[in-house]
Amino acid sequence: MRHLLDITDLTTQEIDELIALAMDIIEQPEKYCDALKGKKLATLFYEPSTRTRLSFTAAMMEFGGNVLGFSDAAASSVSKGETVADTIRVVENFADIIAMRHNKDGAPWVAAQYSQVPIINAGDGGHCHPTQTLADLLTIFRQKGGFENLTVGFCGDLKYGRTVHSLTKALGRYKNVKFVFISPDELKIPDYLRSDIDKESYNYLETNSLENAMPELDILYMTRIQKERFDDENQYNRLKDSFILDAEKLKTAKKDMIILHPLPRVNEIATDVDNDPRACYFKQVLNGKFIRRALIYTLLRQKTQDTRHEKVVLGERCPNSRCISSIEAVKPLYKIADNGEKRCYYCDEIARR
Ligand code: NCD
Repeated sequence: MRHLLDITDLTTQEIDELIALAMDIIEQPEKYCDALKGKKLATLFYEPSTRTRLSFTAAMMEFGGNVLGFSDAAASSVSKGETVADTIRVVENFADIIAMRHNKDGAPWVAAQYSQVPIINAGDGGHCHPTQTLADLLTIFRQKGGFENLTVGFCGDLKYGRTVHSLTKALGRYKNVKFVFISPDELKIPDYLRSDIDKESYNYLETNSLENAMPELDILYMTRIQKERFDDENQYNRLKDSFILDAEKLKTAKKDMIILHPLPRVNEIATDVDNDPRACYFKQVLNGKFIRRALIYTLLRQKTQDTRHEKVVLGERCPNSRCISSIEAVKPLYKIADNGEKRCYYCDEIARR
C-alpha cells in the first residue's frame, strides 16, 4: 500500500509528476471532472483545520467523488477513548483513501501500520506536513519556474512549525539551494532535522535577524508561532511577536522574492503586505487544492508500491511526550540510519546511544 506520511516518501521525479498532473488539471479541468466518481475520501481531523480539510474536500468533490469523516475529534468515538489503530480499522471499511491530521507526532505512521487503504498525513503534531509542502512546491514552481538556485528564508517558529520541516526536506534535494533559518533561539529547527541537514550537507545558516537575511532571499517563508504546542504560556507570550513582516521591512528585499505562509497568520504578516505582488500566500491555498487533487488521483489510480525501505528495529519506549507512543500502545520501533543513528519510527526523536 502506498501512503504519503513524509515528503521524502516521494522521489523528486514523483514530485515532478504530481506537479505536471496538477498543471494538467488546472489547464484541462473538464478531463478530470468524473475521474473518481464513486470513490470516497475520509478526512479524520483530530486537530483544527480550515484550508487543509476544505481543500481535500473540494479536491475530491471536483473529481465527482465523495467525502466523509470528522473535523472535531470530540464529536467522534475518539472522545470515548478509541485509539488511532482502531479508528483506522473501522474507517477503512467506509473509504478508499484517508487524510488524517493528529496532534501527536507520528500518528499517521501508526495509521499506516493498520490501514488497507492509502493514508495521507495532513499534519502530525509539530513533526511533518507533506501536503502543505506539495502546495508550497507547486506555488514555487508556478512563480519561480523550478527549485534550483534558490535562497530560502524560513522565519518564525521553526521548532514546532511542521510545514518548515517538510519543505526543508523537500527543497534540500535540489541543486544549489541555501536555507536561512530565522528564529529566536528557543524556536530553532529540531535536532533530528539539523542532523538530517548535516548528514546531507545542505547549505544553511541560522540567525535571529530577519532584516539582515532579507536582501539575499528568493523566498521568504513566514510562519505562525505555534501557540498550541507550547507547554509554557509565558514563553509563548514572550515569543509570539518575534517577527512581524510589514511593507517597510520589504524595502530591502529582491523585487522578485516571493513571500509564502502556510496560513493561518496571526500577527506575523501585516496586512499592508497583502497587495504587494510578491505576496503569494493566498495563491498557495488554491495551489493546495490542485496538488491535493493530483495526489489523491495518483494514490487511487496507481498501483504503486510502498517506497519505505528503512531498517527498523524494536527498542525502548520513546521518551518524547509529543509522540503518538505517549498515548497509544504502539510497537516501540526505531529506524536505523546508515551512520548508525537510531530514531523513533513515529516522531524522529533521536535515541540516546
Ligand atoms: C499549517 C499547519 O496546520 O501546520 N496550516 C496549514 O495546514 N495550512 C500552519 C499553521 O497552523 O500555522
